[in-house]
Amino acid sequence: MEIQQSSPMEKQYQRFSRLNRTLHIIMIVSFMSLALTGMTLKFSYTGWAVILSHLLGGFESAGYIHRVAAVFMFGIFFAHIYDLARNKRKEVGSWKALLFGPNTMLFTKKDWQDFVGSLKWFLNRGPRPEFGRWTYWEKFDYFAVFWGIFVIGASGLMLWFSEFFTLFIPGWFINVATIIHSDEALLAVGFIFTVHFFNTHLRPEKFPMDLVIFTGRLSIEELKFDKPLEYKELVESGKLEERLVEPYPPIVLRAAHIFGWAALITGISIVIWIVYAMVFAYR
Ligand code: HEM
Repeated sequence: MEIQQSSPMEKQYQRFSRLNRTLHIIMIVSFMSLALTGMTLKFSYTGWAVILSHLLGGFESAGYIHRVAAVFMFGIFFAHIYDLARNKRKEVGSWKALLFGPNTMLFTKKDWQDFVGSLKWFLNRGPRPEFGRWTYWEKFDYFAVFWGIFVIGASGLMLWFSEFFTLFIPGWFINVATIIHSDEALLAVGFIFTVHFFNTHLRPEKFPMDLVIFTGRLSIEELKFDKPLEYKELVESGKLEERLVEPYPPIVLRAAHIFGWAALITGISIVIWIVYAMVFAYR
């Protein structure tokens, strides 16, 4: 299914704000740094960890990079919560409207219907579901980050400030926190660099890369195909015009491509390294 790309002069639909895009780029850099330094510690017995730890300035310095990246991760999390509260005030009015309105990030009955509809579509037994502002897999990926921040973040803080935390919790729990942190991190890395990469970039409609998270914009044709319900609602409410913006010049798109490819290649390489470590070198 070929989606018509817009001509360089045609206006595009703005899907993500500048702040959303900036936070996502910081999250990519921070997550990649956490994954690279964390996995270097976890799989320290592999040859790759030795090479990487040299590049990172040694295992101790990898630990410092890990902590600095963690601070950025917490920073973007709180910036996002602040942005949500501000949008609630400015655009939707109340938490109820934000959480239960038509563009909610929470799962609804329609998400379940879309999920079942997608399975039928994969098997050629029905049409592609009419997705709205957020698809069920986008919602899932969004909450995976929330879950990760709580579980990986909280256990990471316990490892970082273990003397402080053991004033309240038994010492053995630090060992448990290490297992939780390490295994949940493995799950997060495995999920982001396979399922999330496939859903956003590698599925046939977007292959090999969807730049929308970097540019914030997509062609109207793409919106119509990808999110037909959102398109219909925008046309009916007369809000489409308000959200149309000029496309970025080719130099910006090139920079976005280079950054995107670097992230994709790093992520997929980390997955190959993990599989190698677990199959051939596991201790
Ligand atoms: C966001 C908050 C995070 C904090 C505060 C944090 C903190 C820490 C700390 C203090 C350590 C021990 C490192 C050392 O002793 O030098 C550690 C280890 C580790 N971290 Fe994190 N981390 C965070 C997020 C992440 C993320 C997102 C990942 C993976 C994507 C990750 C993967 C790992 C791994 C694999 C280890 C090694 C565990 C082991 O020895 O088996 N961390 N982390």
